[in-house]
Amino acid sequence: MHTRFISTAAAACALLSGCLAGLAIAQDWGDTPYVQTPMNVVERMQEIAKIGPNDFVVDLGSGDGRMVVTAAKKHGARGFGVDLDRRLVALANKNAAKAGVSSRAKFYERDLYATDISEATVLSIYLLPEVNLMARPKLLSTLKPGTRIVSHDYGMGNWKPDYQEELAAPGKTVGIGQRSKILFWVVPGHAAGHWLWRMTPNGKPVDVDLVLQQNFQVLEGKLSSAGRSASIEKGKLAGDNIEFAATLDGTRYEFSGRIINNAIEGKARVTAGGSTRELPWSATRVEIWDARHASLTKEQSVKELQ
Ligand SMILES: C[S@@+](CC[C@H](N)C(=O)[O-])C[C@H]1O[C@@H](n2cnc3c(N)ncnc32)[C@H](O)[C@@H]1O
Repeated sequence: MHTRFISTAAAACALLSGCLAGLAIAQDWGDTPYVQTPMNVVERMQEIAKIGPNDFVVDLGSGDGRMVVTAAKKHGARGFGVDLDRRLVALANKNAAKAGVSSRAKFYERDLYATDISEATVLSIYLLPEVNLMARPKLLSTLKPGTRIVSHDYGMGNWKPDYQEELAAPGKTVGIGQRSKILFWVVPGHAAGHWLWRMTPNGKPVDVDLVLQQNFQVLEGKLSSAGRSASIEKGKLAGDNIEFAATLDGTRYEFSGRIINNAIEGKARVTAGGSTRELPWSATRVEIWDARHASLTKEQSVKELQ
């Protein structure tokens, strides 16, 4: 299914330090080999993702099931894993039974691209970079805003992680120096569009206009009021939580709120003349635009590796 990418596999792999090494070069492009995540890395991934009893964890390429079994046993979560290798699926179900969590941790023989991931509140992956990129459009279009994604070792191209760290990974059989990277994202909601609101920063009501572009969780745009305008700064989405700042006519505004469909409810910290006040902030979207990343296909995404 992914054979058209085979010719570039070795080159891409050679470029990626810590790649699943020679193991991957022997495979077709997009065939992630079975390599275990060391248990200390599994545990740290789950701490970073703040997995708890209300979470539903989906592990794409679940191997021996350690990610979902640990989430169920240690954190009381539920979930499932999928893998193409039926022996690993059988082993994972056996490991879930051994850990006493088979009612909450299930494993299926299934292709990750054909898996319904919409129930996930946490998605975990340890897949080759090109697989992450091929899966990325599906993750962005299917997962609910606010879903946490945690990846062992590999990123998502231009979708930069919200957080990442490196740690010792004793016993790791691939890569360099027995070290691992953990990368973490929060699936962004949808903020792009034209927003309007009225506020009273200095005793007089003013109308404010915001045009907002979105690329993954990063927001750029222009705020205008009373004939003046300024670019926004620090524009960011974490799920449906939005924040950005702007300085207009010597007044500093720091907005934070939550997007609910075509409305935002939140607050604005307004600093002028050395004093800061907090005002309620309610905005309405009058035009809705696609986020820039929304049109990316699997093929366009994977070009980020070339
Ligand atoms: C690097 S291993 C990770 C195993 C486990 N998640 C862990 O971290 O220990 C990747 C796994 O993905 C599976 N896999 C590769 N391509 C897949 C696909 N298209 N659909 C489902 N599983 C896949 C492989 O069989 C392998 O078990």
